[in-house]
Amino acid sequence: MVTLDQLVQYAKSTGFVFQGSELYGGLANTWDYGPLGSLLKKNIKEAWIQKFQRETPYNVLLDSSILMNSDVWKASGHVGGFSDPLTECKSCHQRFRADQLIADHDHDVNPDGWSNETMAEYLLTHQVKCPSCGALEWLPIRAFNMMFQTYQGVVLEQANQIYLRPETAQGIFIHFKNIQRTTRRKIPFGVCQVGKSFRNEITPGNFIFRTREFEQMELEFFCKPGTELEWFSTWKNACMDWLTNLGINRDLLAFDDHKPEALSHYSNATTDIKFKFPWGFDELWGIASRTDFDLNAHQTHSKNDLSYLDPETNEKYLPYVIEPSVGVERLFLAFLLSALDEETLESGDTRQVLRLHPALSPYKVAVLPLMKKAHAEQAQEIHQMISKHVDAIYDETQNIGKRYRRQDAIGTYLCVTVDHETEHDQAVTVRNRDTMAQVRVKIDDLIPYIQKETDY
Ligand code: GAP
Repeated sequence: MVTLDQLVQYAKSTGFVFQGSELYGGLANTWDYGPLGSLLKKNIKEAWIQKFQRETPYNVLLDSSILMNSDVWKASGHVGGFSDPLTECKSCHQRFRADQLIADHDHDVNPDGWSNETMAEYLLTHQVKCPSCGALEWLPIRAFNMMFQTYQGVVLEQANQIYLRPETAQGIFIHFKNIQRTTRRKIPFGVCQVGKSFRNEITPGNFIFRTREFEQMELEFFCKPGTELEWFSTWKNACMDWLTNLGINRDLLAFDDHKPEALSHYSNATTDIKFKFPWGFDELWGIASRTDFDLNAHQTHSKNDLSYLDPETNEKYLPYVIEPSVGVERLFLAFLLSALDEETLESGDTRQVLRLHPALSPYKVAVLPLMKKAHAEQAQEIHQMISKHVDAIYDETQNIGKRYRRQDAIGTYLCVTVDHETEHDQAVTVRNRDTMAQVRVKIDDLIPYIQKETDY
């Protein structure tokens, strides 16, 4: 696997990811997604919606607001409790997350659920050094709330203070009743949402792994109490299958089942799917069985009955929830890391290949006229025809070998070349990115051929 530096270099030079606000010297830890990156993000989201919503008989979509009534965050516990343990080096005054310092100090230690006192004692007794200056003394640990605050309207009054959502999940919980009523769904059913979330992280970093603005894809799956552990296992496996079906090697992935003592007080099962990032296995996807904690909290705070009445058995209950939650950018990073490859050919030449699953490739197809003068017009027509169905790119500069290499390096799955024969046989040469094998395909058969080859 490439190093993180190599990947960052690749992503910037190809137009997958640019530094945010680069023209003005940048804004720390912000990243913008260029032409290729935007397409990859779109394809990741579409592939998730396809498997977690469209193809299941259970799940529907929601698009709720980033800005919500502050009471939502009071009820959910975010206003009081969505904080990280902040500590500060006594010598250089750099700030860190205490739990992260401990986990980095000893990878076998998991400080989830530890009190501030326990963490402070660990830092002291294990002589944990400041990663910045090496000093050994730390200021007291305090809770740092990660919610971004802003004001609605023109008056900067406490009453107008609102938050940017730190997760998309709460938008789903507060609409549980609306969705159940309007879709006439019976339990079990789930709600999928894709959208931006914001967290004022103490230590963002590792490129796009941890940022303050990111996109989440969350499913809240509502089921009958007592059935939740079965559904937990179903969705846990669905997440792993989704990753491996999209080409990530199983060896690069691991389940990290949380031990009972490390579970949040409302959860009776939680697992993380970890990916082998260049700095080690780290969290990609969190899957939690959250009981009725969230619906109960909103029912209590809003004073609205959120319970479900089973039309067949007449039982009334608050559904339990299974929540698989993943960040689009973390998937983006994992897919790029596992796909970027440099191959030595029989000729001794090397070629860079981005072996993305075709469903994720920014461009499924590149259309190339063999000779610009003779073949450009027909190649452009074919490009137009293909673009009605899939993302395709047209490229006429430099020799055909260089153009193949350029497309291999950005993951384009098929190259369609218009040549001297095309006029006579109404066919084109189609080259596969991975095998480099070439076949002749009639123009009339091209769309079904592409659809079959890039099917997901
Ligand atoms: N609703 C549950 C929830 O938000 P989480 O473990 O805090 O759970 C879920 O976040 C996922 O969102 C993580 O596994 C990760 O993929 C992504 N994520 C969380 N914070 C992130 C950040 N600062 N930058 C990028 N992705 C993040």
